[in-house]
Amino acid sequence: MGKPCVVWFTGLSGAGKSTIAGLLTRRLCTLGCRTYLLDGDEVRRGLNKDLGFAAADRAENIRRLAEVARLMADAGLIVLVAAISPFRADRRAARELMPAGEFFEVFVDAPLAVAEARDVKGLYKKARRGELPNFTGIDSPYEAPEMPDVRIDTVTLSADQGAQLVLDHLQTAGVV
Ligand code: ADX
Repeated sequence: MGKPCVVWFTGLSGAGKSTIAGLLTRRLCTLGCRTYLLDGDEVRRGLNKDLGFAAADRAENIRRLAEVARLMADAGLIVLVAAISPFRADRRAARELMPAGEFFEVFVDAPLAVAEARDVKGLYKKARRGELPNFTGIDSPYEAPEMPDVRIDTVTLSADQGAQLVLDHLQTAGVV
């Protein structure tokens, strides 16, 4: 059940990408879809542990995530990717690896002030103290999507509602 595709979550650190993607994974599983979640944090501990956070390293991180996602979609999975992916050009390149209609960009939209106030991992505090150079939103840019397939306003929507919004979109698109 479910057509293979890539659902790409982008947004600031702490916006809720992993949480929402995790909730969506469970719902898709319940519906009988074969799904895998590629999480930036996790992939950076293994496959991409040689990469840092300079722009060129982030581009390589996204390129590898996109290539792995493509292979997994080739194997028949609905692949969810959760990574800050701050640069439009890198996200565009990820989309271009997939056939038309099989890539969905989901913008997990949290204003910097909100993500920073949550600071689940305490990283914004560190970044403000200058201990984490090139931190997205602080001293490294985040280029928000101009035309995402789905935009989740995390100020007004719960994580559950966000996951539902993406599911609705996938159902409308005929993927699920
Ligand atoms: S991406 O920009 O290359 O897409 P990715 O999503 O893989 O980033 O990794 C982001 C995670 O790395 C953050 O959630 C945070 O836990 C950690 N991290 C460590 N240093 C930084 C930094 N300088 N900028 C952003 N995230 C960082």
